[in-house]
Amino acid sequence: MENPKYTADYSKFDPEAYCSTNFRTIEGPVGQKQMRLFIFDSLQEIYNSGEISGEMLLDVGTGPTVYNLTSAAPHFSNIYLSDFSEVNRNAVWRWLINDPQANDSSHFFEYVSGRQKKGTASSCLEDDLRSRIKGILHCDMTQPNPLFPSMFPPFDAISSSLCLDVVPSGTLVGYQAAAKNVTSLLRPGGWVVLVGSLGCNFYRFGNCRYPAIPMTSSNLKQIWTDIGFTIKVWKQYDMTEADMAVNQTSDSKGMFCMAAKKEN
Ligand SMILES: C[S@@+](CC[C@H](N)C(=O)[O-])C[C@H]1O[C@@H](n2cnc3c(N)ncnc32)[C@H](O)[C@@H]1O
Repeated sequence: MENPKYTADYSKFDPEAYCSTNFRTIEGPVGQKQMRLFIFDSLQEIYNSGEISGEMLLDVGTGPTVYNLTSAAPHFSNIYLSDFSEVNRNAVWRWLINDPQANDSSHFFEYVSGRQKKGTASSCLEDDLRSRIKGILHCDMTQPNPLFPSMFPPFDAISSSLCLDVVPSGTLVGYQAAAKNVTSLLRPGGWVVLVGSLGCNFYRFGNCRYPAIPMTSSNLKQIWTDIGFTIKVWKQYDMTEADMAVNQTSDSKGMFCMAAKKEN
C-alpha cells in the first residue's frame, strides 16, 4: 500500500482488490474485528426486530459485496441491488449466479447463521438472498431520480452501506442532496437502513485511495431529521486508539448503523 493513487473514479474501482483487502475474512483488516462484528450484529438486530419488512427493498451502492444484506433477505420478497460502477455490478452478478470466479461471501452467512437461534444452514441463507434478488441496476445518487431510466413503484425500504459517504462533492450539502435523491424512491412510512463511517476522510485498497466525507454523528442525525426521517435505531462503534493506530485501510474513527422511518 505504498504511495496510493488518489482517485474518485468509480468506473475504475477494482472489486477484487476491494474485497481481498476488506472481506477475505469475517474479521476484516487488522484492527477492525470489533467494528466489523458490530455491523453484522447491529444489522441482524435491526432486521430481526420484524419492524422492517415489505415487498421491495433497494440496496444503493452495493459495490461488489452483499455483506450488509445477510440479515435482510427473509423480510423482503423482492430485493434490487444497485451501483454506479459497472465493474461492481458485474462482480456482484458473479456472486448472484454462483460463478466460481465470484468473491467468496460464505463466511458472512456462516457468521450470521451461527448467531441465529434457529440456526438455518449458512448455505440456505445465502441461497435465500440470491433467490430474492430480482435485479442489479445502474444507480447514480447524485441524480434526482437515481435509478433513471428504470422505473419502479416506491420501495418499502432502502439499505445502503458506505455509499453516501463517498458522494462526489465531498460536502455535507452533497450528502444531504444524495440522501434526498435516494429516499425519493421510498414510500412514506418506509425505512432506511444505513451503515456509514464516522470521521473518515479516505479509504484505500490495492494502490488506490478514495475520498470520503468525515461525518459526525450530529451531522448525520441533523441531516436525516431535516429531510423528514425519524431515527428509530442509532448504533455507534467508536474505534479504540489502539485499533486506529493499526488501521491501514482508512482513517475512520468509527461506524454507525441507523434505521430511520420516512414520515411523509
Ligand atoms: C466504499 S464502496 C461501498 C461498497 C459496499 N456497499 C460496502 O459497504 O462495502 C462505495 C460504493 O459506492 C458506489 N458509488 C460511488 N458513486 C456512486 C454514485 N454516484 N451513485 C451510486 N453509487 C455510487 C461505488 O461504485 C461503490 O460501490
